[in-house]
Amino acid sequence: MGFLGSPSVASSYYSSSRVFLYPAAFVFWVLVLMNGAAVCNGGKTSTFVRKVEKSVDMPLDSDVFRVPPGYNAPQQVHITQGDHVGKAVIVSWVTQDEPGSDVVLYWSENCNEKKEAKGKHRTYKFYNYMSGNIHHCTLRNLKFDTKYYYEVGIGQTVRRFWFVTPPEVGPDVPYTFGLIGDLGQTFDSNRTLTHYEHNPHKGQTVLFVGDLSYADNYPNHDNVRWDTWGRFAERSVAYQPWIWTAGNHEIDFAPEIGETTPFKPFTRRYHTPYKASGSTAPFWYSIKRASAYIIVLSSYSAYGKYTPQYQWLEEELPKVNRSETPWLIVLMHSPWYNSNNYHYMEGDTMRVMFEPWFVQYKVDVVFAGHVHAYERSERVSNIVYNIVNGLCAPIRDQSAPVYINIGDGGNIEGLANNMTEPQPKYSAYREASFGHAIFDIKNRTHAHYSWHRNQDGYAVEADSLWFYNRFWHPIADSSSV
Ligand SMILES: [Fe+2]
Repeated sequence: MGFLGSPSVASSYYSSSRVFLYPAAFVFWVLVLMNGAAVCNGGKTSTFVRKVEKSVDMPLDSDVFRVPPGYNAPQQVHITQGDHVGKAVIVSWVTQDEPGSDVVLYWSENCNEKKEAKGKHRTYKFYNYMSGNIHHCTLRNLKFDTKYYYEVGIGQTVRRFWFVTPPEVGPDVPYTFGLIGDLGQTFDSNRTLTHYEHNPHKGQTVLFVGDLSYADNYPNHDNVRWDTWGRFAERSVAYQPWIWTAGNHEIDFAPEIGETTPFKPFTRRYHTPYKASGSTAPFWYSIKRASAYIIVLSSYSAYGKYTPQYQWLEEELPKVNRSETPWLIVLMHSPWYNSNNYHYMEGDTMRVMFEPWFVQYKVDVVFAGHVHAYERSERVSNIVYNIVNGLCAPIRDQSAPVYINIGDGGNIEGLANNMTEPQPKYSAYREASFGHAIFDIKNRTHAHYSWHRNQDGYAVEADSLWFYNRFWHPIADSSSV
């Protein structure tokens, strides 16, 4: 659970009888504590201290990177939502030796009649790397809440997978989202994914908050590491959709080697259903899924006034009907609120542009990544500041979202364990560990949230909280005091 009622430092000091034996010492400690309370009334910094070790990518011959057997066998299979409401799925895969077939064969569990959908494929070049044939095919007009099997490949190398479509969109439809960010392909990345797969809460869809492969940490952004990441993640993403957010490690802007098209590998490999929500670029878009309305934003695309992303979001937020989708969730890569010195305030320029809308439209929760640690905020806003009024500190605001930083997938760059001191008031809980989270929607008013360290047992909830919906049940939920 959260940390409601956890004993404060002050009360433990007051209970020490020895203090009362020395009046001067007593006055001294009261003054120290009063001073401390004035500057620091933050939440909890976890006492769990993870051993700091270098994060190392798994070697190329690791079992999780294994190429499926057979000539030209489809690999790196992944799916994502393919429309606005969950009746379509984009299936993507790579054939390395030759194009092969663009067809996906699919059928529902209760019906043996097989259908075919035909997609397209293409390759791309990045410096001295040439990709395999990257296929994308959208399956449309699927039935809600139905298990489908699908096959890709031909001849001896057909591979079969399955997925379950979400229930029809509605206000009280339970649904369980997983949250993963900044995953990479280290031994810890593998541990995090395994923990997600074995979590008893059983996530049905992953909301991925950006930074996939970290291929750009290699010389010339070695895109072989995009391929290995695709094979590593397949064991989850071939069976349930991952909703993609673009992070800074997706930019792959490398003019020093002649690569000047931002997001080239990411956009060639990972498609999003952006057109279905009226977006003009794959980096910002929305989907409905069960009782949730999910808005994905791009920290690395223009968001100033009059820009395409700004205009889109301005028109998008009024469209959210909380009677249909009570839970309004926003994904972005660079967090607006965190208290880690790593990437501190990088998200602030976007916060300045969009935060008043998030409060106006009562966003329930914002998930971000980028900072390689875990943190959960109070419900705060900082929207009254106008340069001259001096009101520049965040304040408690029950119309504001909770901000959760889940950039702790476990990538090669390691943990961000240098936090600002004292812990600011807006920060409810923070810890430098790797892990993932679960957002488990029960109905229109309640969702259970839990964060799971990747070195605990699968069922252990290192941080958890009942979320109360901001539209239907807007009473206080997030609190560290
Ligand atoms: Fe990042």
